[in-house]
Amino acid sequence: MPGTLIIGAQWGDEAKGKITDMLASKADIVARYQGGDNAGHTVVVGGQTWKFHLIPSGILYPRVLCVLGNGMVINPKRLWEELDSLSARGVDISPSRLKISRQAHLIMPYHLALDGASEAALGQAKIGTTKRGIGPAYMDKMSRQGLRAWDMLRPDFRQRVIRAVEQKNIWLERVYAEPTLDPQAVADEYAGYAERMRPYIADISPLLYDAYVAGKELLYEGGQGTLLDIDLGSYPYVTSSSASAGGAAAGLGIGPRCIDRIIGVAKSYQTRVGSGPFPTELLDEIGDHMVDRGAEFGTTTGRRRRCGWLDLATLRYSARVNGLTEIALTKLDVLSGLNRLRTCNAYQVGGETWTDWPADGEALEGCAPVYEELPGWEEDLAVSAWEELPAETRAYIAHIEQRVGVPVKLISVGPDRDQTIYR
Ligand code: IMP
Repeated sequence: MPGTLIIGAQWGDEAKGKITDMLASKADIVARYQGGDNAGHTVVVGGQTWKFHLIPSGILYPRVLCVLGNGMVINPKRLWEELDSLSARGVDISPSRLKISRQAHLIMPYHLALDGASEAALGQAKIGTTKRGIGPAYMDKMSRQGLRAWDMLRPDFRQRVIRAVEQKNIWLERVYAEPTLDPQAVADEYAGYAERMRPYIADISPLLYDAYVAGKELLYEGGQGTLLDIDLGSYPYVTSSSASAGGAAAGLGIGPRCIDRIIGVAKSYQTRVGSGPFPTELLDEIGDHMVDRGAEFGTTTGRRRRCGWLDLATLRYSARVNGLTEIALTKLDVLSGLNRLRTCNAYQVGGETWTDWPADGEALEGCAPVYEELPGWEEDLAVSAWEELPAETRAYIAHIEQRVGVPVKLISVGPDRDQTIYR
């Protein structure tokens, strides 16, 4: 099946990087469709560690064409930092390897300034963003004031940048009492990026469609996760893009029928970074065990991730809203050494029991998880076949499948590629 979509089924950081990398090695095209450099994933190839924020890790495979979709917001400065560092390590970054949608929006320096200023103004109620300017860039997109990659091809690009900076200076100065930006300096900087980006900017919709029709292998890569989706996540504690399956078609200019397989990547426990309710959060030594064994620190911001028991009510929600065809279950080895495991299958709210995730940041605040308990295992899971997994581990996976109603086809028991079990 040529069109495979891979998405985060939780609050991001599901270790999508490894799964994406494995699938990318067999793909012809890897395309990202939303978000920007708020994403971060690490892949280990041949003993070398690579960190990616904007560029799909598929760039490491010479036959793969990487695509940045129209649903994305791209910070050209960060794009070039990433491309230059790849190039310095011998990766071919010529325009034949990477296409950027002409409709993708640009992250400008004022977006970063506004992200920081807005978070500071919110005080205790802050979202806990990555401060990469993501929200303000999508605000401009929706209010039809954004600058797009396409504008970089137009002769008056500098003037457009100057006008945009002048406008945003009013906000910075009058609303947030923040320092303003020098319009000429920003225009000069972005004119330089435009010069370099021009050969990469393309109409990606026909490119993807033609490849799909020709039977090529396409991998669509989602950033963040379903519970951070602007429409379907734990609003307002979400990112500003469509991180779930629905975003893929709109963010790439393809029809939904070009998506044949939808893999939800889920961690074997639950994590989140930033603010917002988290019913199964563990603020005890079990949570510390997950942070330590799972190295739960953000790739983009280095923040310690909050950890808790696996929430199957959210996973069931994810399976429904994304139409998951399968689950890739990651970091199962992190649970080794815990003698009892819990999963949340419903919430207690007042006198009521909710089996569906309410998808509302405020309603979630009052939710107490209803847990089920299962036996844990001691073994470190250094195995490569399903039959070799401890009986308790297999029972844990069977329990997930039973409660969520989606098969777990891939199980990851460590960061290396060979620490993967297929079913
Ligand atoms: P923003 O995307 O920077 O606006 O941040 C909004 C929320 O999404 C915050 O809670 C961030 O921590 C979270 N977030 C954004 N990107 C990621 C990611 O790649 N992984 C996990 N959380 C993310």
